[in-house]
Order: sequence, then C-alpha cells, then structure tokens
Amino acid sequence: MTGPDLDTVTTARLLVRPPREADRDRFAGLFGNEDFMVFYPGVLTGEEAQDRFDHMVAVCRAIPFGKQPVVELSSGLVVGYTGADYIDFEGRTRLEWGYRLVPECRGLGYATEASRALLAKAHQTYAGELLAIIAPENLASQNVCRKLGFAFWKQAPVEGGTRNLYTLPVGEPAP
Ligand SMILES: CC(C)(COP(=O)(O)OP(=O)(O)OC[C@H]1O[C@@H](n2cnc3c(N)ncnc32)[C@H](O)[C@@H]1OP(=O)(O)O)[C@@H](O)C(=O)NCCC(=O)NCCS
Repeated sequence: MTGPDLDTVTTARLLVRPPREADRDRFAGLFGNEDFMVFYPGVLTGEEAQDRFDHMVAVCRAIPFGKQPVVELSSGLVVGYTGADYIDFEGRTRLEWGYRLVPECRGLGYATEASRALLAKAHQTYAGELLAIIAPENLASQNVCRKLGFAFWKQAPVEGGTRNLYTLPVGEPAP
C-alpha cells in the first residue's frame, strides 16, 4: 500500500501524483473542454483524449516528473496537471514543462505551488534542461514559468505560431 504514496508530492493545498486509471474519464472530459484547453491548438476528440491519457501514463512511468494530475486537497478533485513531456524541437528530443488548470482554480497560485513541488523531484532525478513553450500573449503562464526559475531563451516558430521559449537547468550537470 505504500508504493503509490511514495510517488505523491503534497503541498499546503495540493497533491501531485502520477495518473491512475480512475483519472481517465476526468482527463478525457478536460482534454475535450474548450475552457480547459485555451492556448492550445484545439480541443481533443474523444479518441485523441484517450490517447493523450495513455501517453500521460506512459511518460509518468518513464520519468517521475511527467505531466501528472494536480489534486485540490480541499475538494479532492483533479483540477489540472503539471509536469514534463517529450518534445522534438530543432532536431533534438527535449523535455517540455507545462501546466493547465480548470478555470475556477486559476489565479490562486496553484500552478506555481504544484510545479515547484514536482520540479523538486526533477532536480533530484534528472540532470539537463527543461523547456517551456508559451504563446507571447499568455502572460499568466509566463509569470508562472519565471516564478519557477525559467529564463527567457528566444522567440521561435512552433507548430505554426510564434512562441516564447524559456529554459531551466535542473539537477547536477553531467561530469
Ligand atoms: C497558466 C495557468 C496554469 C496559471 O495558473 P495559476 O495557478 O493561475 O498561476 P499562478 O496563480 O501560480 O500565477 C499566475 C501569475 O500570473 C498572473 N496573472 C494571471 N492572469 C494574468 C493575466 N491575464 N495577465 C497578467 N498576469 C496574469 C498572476 O497575478 C500570477 O502572478 P503573481 O503571482 O506575480 O501575482 C492557468 O492560468 C491556466 O491553466 N491557463 C490556461 C492553460 C494555459 O495557458 N496553460 C499554459 C500553456 S503554456
């Protein structure tokens, strides 16, 4: 019974933990919801949402700080996710950090609180660079990433749009 709990990070108001099968329907609903998916090219179809959830599970098996559910302690609800996923950018596979919350849980500091907690795990288990890719007009997200310690790198075209790229070195540099 202790196994899964070892993977859980708890903060003052939140719990961040790897996805479970019981989260599937919640995420399928969120990935198909326009408000949740703002600043994303579009909502996912039912099938895409199922695939995205499977992908989330797979990445979290590979890295302990993969994109994973953020649970609000006061309500017990999954209110979003934070963490890293693989992305190919400029010919290299990198780790991209991202977060997304349900609208009613934005503006409370949750993204920063959850990300800081999970980043601590990244610092302990990974050495390298994390990338954040953010639409220039998404000020809230850029505020969060700066609070997490990311530094502006450059603007670049990503998936057809101009994006602001930020980087954060984590862990010990390899010898
Ligand atoms: C981006 C997002 C995760 C931020 O979550 P959050 O919990 O509200 O973030 P926090 O409360 O930790 O911090 C947000 C910061 O941006 C600021 N902010 C919020 N909305 C803002 C806006 N429209 N313009 C400028 N600043 C804004 C807040 O004041 C806060 O900064 P502060 O702590 O210096 O006051 C959340 O807004 C969200 O889910 N957005 C939709 C999905 C998304 O854009 N994901 C990121 C894609 S790159």
